[in-house]
Amino acid sequence: MDATTQRRWGDQMLALLAANTTQMADREYVQPVADYVDPGHARRERDLLFRRTPLIVAASDELARPGEFRTVDIDGMSAVIVRQDDGSLRAFHNVCRHRGCRVVDAECGTARTFTCKFHSWVYGGDGTLRHVPMAEGFPGIDRAQRGLVPLPVAERHGLVWLLPTAGLELDLDAFLGPMGPCLAQLKMEDAAVFRFERFPEKMNWKLVVDTFLELYHLPYLHTKTVGRFIEGKGALHEQFGPHSRFIAPRKSFVPALRDIPPEQRDVAEHSVVINRVFPNGIVIWQRDHVEFWTAVPDGDDPNRCMVRLWLLSPEKVVSEAERVRWDKNWEILRGTVQVEDFPMARTIQQGFSSGAQDHVIFGRNELGLHEFHRSLKEALAAA
Ligand code: FES
Ligand SMILES: [Fe+2]
Repeated sequence: MDATTQRRWGDQMLALLAANTTQMADREYVQPVADYVDPGHARRERDLLFRRTPLIVAASDELARPGEFRTVDIDGMSAVIVRQDDGSLRAFHNVCRHRGCRVVDAECGTARTFTCKFHSWVYGGDGTLRHVPMAEGFPGIDRAQRGLVPLPVAERHGLVWLLPTAGLELDLDAFLGPMGPCLAQLKMEDAAVFRFERFPEKMNWKLVVDTFLELYHLPYLHTKTVGRFIEGKGALHEQFGPHSRFIAPRKSFVPALRDIPPEQRDVAEHSVVINRVFPNGIVIWQRDHVEFWTAVPDGDDPNRCMVRLWLLSPEKVVSEAERVRWDKNWEILRGTVQVEDFPMARTIQQGFSSGAQDHVIFGRNELGLHEFHRSLKEALAAA
């Protein structure tokens, strides 16, 4: 983080903490429950957010060498992303041009070609159709026109974004705006994926994102875990178009920085930075590492989603001692969210489906939730 930003954060966060408060919205935010349970709303979200918006789908490190590929399924569509010999990335619909089968089943791997299991049509890593068995059966096809259907893909700041509709233009820098430099600061392009996991959850995808957007619950739900290390207040929010981030003070913030001249304060050292990348990404900077989460709807049921979690280490973990340390980081991360946050979110989803109430309320102190849900509302209204 640059010195000017750190100084501003330091002044404002110390003032908030001294006043025993956090940055507030002007008023509470009324959030309709229907947005989490209504199939019609889920379809509108799919058509706009999960088809026509760039989505984080991988870390660059997972596709480091030519021939490395990853498949990703997003709410009823499947794509395969492949590192090319020239270092660029290409993405394709994971759909055979013969009769339409899924071509690549593996989640990741290295391959020069992809062979469809049904009738063994073979595609190159560049998507071109390379081989058709019993070719005399297809005298009329133009092979050059029968490659895998390309999808827009882009790579920035160590992350890979996919735009899941063929033919759309992907201008990632314009999409990210000022969020781009925020992500660049995290140095993810130098990092290695220590672990990746994908798991289904019985909740609307937005509840996964909601989990990370307020500190209000830390001293109550997380008394034995992160609540011991991070303040439940003192957060500072910044909005960048549809994206936002907030800076959360660690418990060490006040004791370490209170008596230090502003220009000498290492604010970042005593903070956690939570970047929300529209529509469904959470990128958390934790001083010595970054973790990022995405959630996508899983089928037509608004009560289900697929969660993906990556833990990045600054360098590839090779020694056993390092592995033990990073395993511990993973356990803390997975444990806190899995054992404490997501059980709450599952009951919220159940409560939403019960018809008990038609709205919930986000307090003035839950500004991150206001920003997230307002950005969704605005995007859907503009579509
Ligand atoms: S559907 Fe793929 S080869 Fe026939
Ligand atoms: Fe939490």
